[in-house]
Amino acid sequence: MYSISDDVFCIDIKDTKRKLSYASGKESYGTTYNSYLIKSDKNILIDGAPGKFSDEYFSEIKKIISPKEIDYVIFNHTEPDNSGMLLKLLNVNPDIQVISTIAGLKNLKEITNCEFNEYLAKDSAILNFNQFSLQFFTMPNLHWPDTMITYCPKKQLLFSGDFLGAHFISDNNTYCSEYDSLFKEYYLSLMSPYKAFVLSACNKISGLDIKAICPAHGSVLFENYKDALAKYTKWSTPCKQELKQIVILYKSEYGYTKELAIAASEQANECGCDTKILSLDNISENSIGEVIKNTDGIMIGTPTISRNVPPQVWNIIKHIDVPSCLDKEFAVFGSYGWSGEATLIIQSVLKTMKLRVKSDVFRISFCPNLSDIEKMKVYTKKFIEELKDE
Ligand SMILES: Cc1cc2nc3c(=O)[nH]c(=O)nc-3n(C[C@H](O)[C@H](O)[C@H](O)COP(=O)(O)O)c2cc1C
Repeated sequence: MYSISDDVFCIDIKDTKRKLSYASGKESYGTTYNSYLIKSDKNILIDGAPGKFSDEYFSEIKKIISPKEIDYVIFNHTEPDNSGMLLKLLNVNPDIQVISTIAGLKNLKEITNCEFNEYLAKDSAILNFNQFSLQFFTMPNLHWPDTMITYCPKKQLLFSGDFLGAHFISDNNTYCSEYDSLFKEYYLSLMSPYKAFVLSACNKISGLDIKAICPAHGSVLFENYKDALAKYTKWSTPCKQELKQIVILYKSEYGYTKELAIAASEQANECGCDTKILSLDNISENSIGEVIKNTDGIMIGTPTISRNVPPQVWNIIKHIDVPSCLDKEFAVFGSYGWSGEATLIIQSVLKTMKLRVKSDVFRISFCPNLSDIEKMKVYTKKFIEELKDE
């Protein structure tokens, strides 16, 4: 725990063992769960800590104030790593007011499974106390649908939740030498799928007077916050590509789907696309996600094996990061013997993931003849035209 100003404290719970299921982050650096306490005419907690750290968390708070004296607890984001302690807080202080967005309050009810006094934070709404005020800015889908940011104009502090955080352990807000790379890694794994929302958040807070930004993980940003915002803006601004990027990923046992893949790549080149054709036998599973992220159109070629999809093709599905693929188009093709389920299964999974997938698949029985190759080219051309029409 350390103080940010006379009456604002950061309770930073250190977790050296955090393993993230959604990030390839360097887990060895661990993370902090930052919660902020404003001690004034009203005592306010902003963000929290995981339930399993509740004892440590409350013993830190008790060094400043009794948890019973806290009037409000605000959740900028309700992921259990920042809200798990709420149940215990409600047990000791059932009268506390819990502030979050509509989606946040719903999540908190389902996380605690209990009733509490709720206060709905609406966009730009101001909550006035005698000695200070707080303003809420809702930022839905800046990571989760519940997300918001809380601003304290008097203290010029912006409590940003997961936005502008980093997974590393800072001792009393010192920076480790790897801070810049960890800050970027955090952005890439948590924020980069939501670039449009990141830009709108940067824009929304651009006019505020800020002395420090207080995120839910990593260090509080003082004079370096402008640099951090500039980086988020730069990384999230789309770079204009002259050529459409197409990748054709395929698996082929006897070479029939491969022939279709080659026809597709010839057509894509003819249409002026920057085209890659990759056999799933030759690329590492871990690179699939990156290949897809950097492409506009993804064509998946699959044979049917035992009424199913071969494991190499399932690996594509495993590595699709849906939020970063919402603006991409998918198409599915392949050769089959008699029942041909695989193309339809992949198309249906992509649809279930609410990704944009071509409404028809292209499938042929066994070895493609000249007419099939021509039809594959027509299918590819239509797919690319649909991409270009956007
Ligand atoms: C072990 C095995 C199981 C198969 N099961 C099916 C099947 O259930 N339904 C089907 O339509 N074709 C099935 N096939 C046929 C293949 O889908 C067909 O040979 C296809 O043309 C292979 O294309 P490829 O050369 O691109 O791998 C199977 C083939 C093998 C080797």
